[in-house]
Amino acid sequence: MGKRYLVTGGAGFIGSHLVDLLLADPEVEHVTVFDKFTYAGDRRNLLPHWNNNYAFDSQTARFRSCFGDVADATQLLEAIEHCKPDGIFHLAAESHVDRSILNPASFILPNILGAVNLLEAARFFKIRTVYVSTDEVMGDSVEQGIFTEESEYHTSSPYSWSKAAADQYATQVLPRTYADEHVPVMVTRGCNHFGPRQQWEKFLPRVIMSVLEDESIKLYGNGLQERTWLHVLDGARALQHVMRHGSIGEVYLVGPSMIPQTHTNEWLAETVCNVLGKSVPIEHIRDRPGHDRRYAMSAEKLMQLGPGWKPRVSLVEGLRETVRWYQQSENLEWVRACRRRDKEFAQKNYAERDAVPR
Ligand code: DAU
Repeated sequence: MGKRYLVTGGAGFIGSHLVDLLLADPEVEHVTVFDKFTYAGDRRNLLPHWNNNYAFDSQTARFRSCFGDVADATQLLEAIEHCKPDGIFHLAAESHVDRSILNPASFILPNILGAVNLLEAARFFKIRTVYVSTDEVMGDSVEQGIFTEESEYHTSSPYSWSKAAADQYATQVLPRTYADEHVPVMVTRGCNHFGPRQQWEKFLPRVIMSVLEDESIKLYGNGLQERTWLHVLDGARALQHVMRHGSIGEVYLVGPSMIPQTHTNEWLAETVCNVLGKSVPIEHIRDRPGHDRRYAMSAEKLMQLGPGWKPRVSLVEGLRETVRWYQQSENLEWVRACRRRDKEFAQKNYAERDAVPR
């Protein structure tokens, strides 16, 4: 019998790419998506699987899905009962820093209670689980060097604080308080991911859409903040790799290289313009409060795990492919519709930010 997986947040950006990957593996018996299907988790991200006539909620199909909120332990337990997973990937979370700054309390239930519910279920049923955390929990701590798996928490935003609370539950509470239970949880801390289907409020989709729609690109502050970028397919492959080969209780940083590879937001904006062969004005606007200046990491531990994982998609090739995806008319229309739907957030987040000098 093949493997059965439950993917919380499987309708989101990284989650849906992971679902594609899992379903492409003939050794996987079935995959169940557990998702709240909010603005960030779109059924459309899973379209190829519906199109293959996998009935929604069917209990015989290879692809199954159920509506559910990880903050509701009963719903989560029901999904686990139905799916009987060999492994759980926990991706369900509110993940947008700017939204967390506008509404901090809304991050507590999904990101902390939801994660604790999930980790407790993993403990109770002894299900191998990959808890997807973020490099952002280590925050603004590496002006020059790199994050390692041992770096300390150093959070800035309500988002990173909420992720750090759950990360700490997985990496410190479970192995200490429940040490004799050997709870089968592994933690990944990913860098910034990019690729097709990313929610439009994140930086790269915003830059691409600005160029496509002839709008100015809005950089927070001087635009010289640095991030490490990984294509979402490589990020999804890394999660699958940790599920297969990871050691319980371990943390794995997920990034493109062993040595730091960072890029400024300004460089990315200019590169997208070059890829599209078009330029639009770059506007510097009032900075994100508590904006972390630099994230940089070494993915050495992940690259040395098992038979070895390494990224397949380079940043520039990945950007070209991502831009092509946004250019396709049906995708462009879809993103435009999402932007119209979420315009209240955009209004709140951007309208009152004055222009600032670079
Ligand atoms: O590092 C992993 C994290 O990466 C994930 O845990 C988060 O879920 C994900 O959102 C991302 O966090 P960031 O804050 O780095 O991503 P975001 O796309 O919001 O912003 C990337 C950079 O671009 C950051 O320095 C802020 C800047 N930015 C962002 C937006 C939306 C701008 O300059 N202008 C913008 O309009």
